[in-house]
Amino acid sequence: MSQACYACNTTPRPASARLNASGRWEVGGVDLLQLAEQFGTPLYVLDKATIEANCRDYLDGFKDYPGGFEITFASKSLPLVGIDRLIYKQGFTIEASSYGEVHVALAAGVPGTLIRFSGNNKTLEEINYAISKGVKRFLVDGIDELKLLHDAAPAGTEILLRVTPGIEAHTHEFIRTGQTDSKFGFALESLPEAYALLADSHLCFCGLQAHIGSQIFDVAPFKALVETMLLETQKTKAYGLNPTELDLGGGLGIAYTEADNPPAIRDFVEQVAKTVEEKAQELGMELPRLILEPGRSIVGTAGITLYQVGHEKVIPGVRRYLMVDGGMPDNPRPITYGAEYLADTVESRPKCNETITIAGKCCESGDILIWDAKVQAKSGDLLIVWGTGAYCFAMSSNYNRLPRPAVVMVGDGESQLIRRRETLDDLIAAEVNL
Ligand code: LLP
Repeated sequence: MSQACYACNTTPRPASARLNASGRWEVGGVDLLQLAEQFGTPLYVLDKATIEANCRDYLDGFKDYPGGFEITFASKSLPLVGIDRLIYKQGFTIEASSYGEVHVALAAGVPGTLIRFSGNNKTLEEINYAISKGVKRFLVDGIDELKLLHDAAPAGTEILLRVTPGIEAHTHEFIRTGQTDSKFGFALESLPEAYALLADSHLCFCGLQAHIGSQIFDVAPFKALVETMLLETQKTKAYGLNPTELDLGGGLGIAYTEADNPPAIRDFVEQVAKTVEEKAQELGMELPRLILEPGRSIVGTAGITLYQVGHEKVIPGVRRYLMVDGGMPDNPRPITYGAEYLADTVESRPKCNETITIAGKCCESGDILIWDAKVQAKSGDLLIVWGTGAYCFAMSSNYNRLPRPAVVMVGDGESQLIRRRETLDDLIAAEVNL
């Protein structure tokens, strides 16, 4: 049985991480040295109990909301068959942002009717593929796509319109999406054209959707979003439309370092749901069926990456670099967003004041996983980088022709390989006319 855990998004380490009697870190009851010996490094490790607890916290947060709800996992954060299956089993639907992610969800046994298709430039090929697999619900990003669906999709296809509500969340500019000047969604003033089309269509208009950004710690922009979205929903009545749902996207942040302080999942959901209740009452509206689309806050702190330290470079009086056997191909977030992470050695060591730099092995000066890590480590050591469950495997590459690491799920003292390490032959498998 998985243990209960609360607020798993508020500390960078998975719920089950602990130091064992041998003085080594274990996760899910499995010694990380043993995992590294069995599966090699670099290695992605996912704690099943943390994912389950985070799902439970989302569900619990909705407990007192009387309007009905849906939680759909933004599978782009960790698009793996084993993960979609696990999260679907917790009572979530799956949000896919491409036909590739639809394919992964189908392989996980998720019925097409419970897969939501989002994304800003769905092609007709992708749309037809999804429809042929039973996908019924589309988060529509613009008028061109709506017209495509009007022509291609059967009666009863469910539509949510993605809105850019003009609300800015304080997060990295590359992962901020709610502002007016964004490639995503309908600007508020462009919605009437979509309403007019839907009023005269066989498509079923379910409601409005917005996703204002990612890695957000502040509930205030979500509260502002509720008001904007409900007011906008009211306007659809003039077109004879009667949407019953409201989708507020994903975006809740996690702690990557001990300095990060996101709200706990359950508190966040409760506050958002309460705001919807209050605002709907104030505006004299029926309570909408409320939808959230979390990604990072479900899988982020469940994941760690294990590396082995290889060579060192010491520049006297300047810096000590420790090179690990992975880097930007398995975790492109530091080089892309300046993301920060916390590291430990697998063998617990007393805290030290020395600051080292953990560098990746790619031919790229920016391939640095952590600039200022406070760990006592040396060549041959195993290192843990915490909090790598979201958008690391998802955005991984084969840069410098490095095979992707394996992915192992741990729980109840057992480990299960859910994606094998890529081989050298995998690297050239798609090349032709050799
Ligand atoms: N819904 C929509 C429409 C989205 O675009 C996203 C994420 C989510 C939900 C889930 O957001 P979350 O709960 O994970 O914050 N690669 C970046 C994050 C990009 C997020 C893209 N959209 C990173 O590594 O920080």
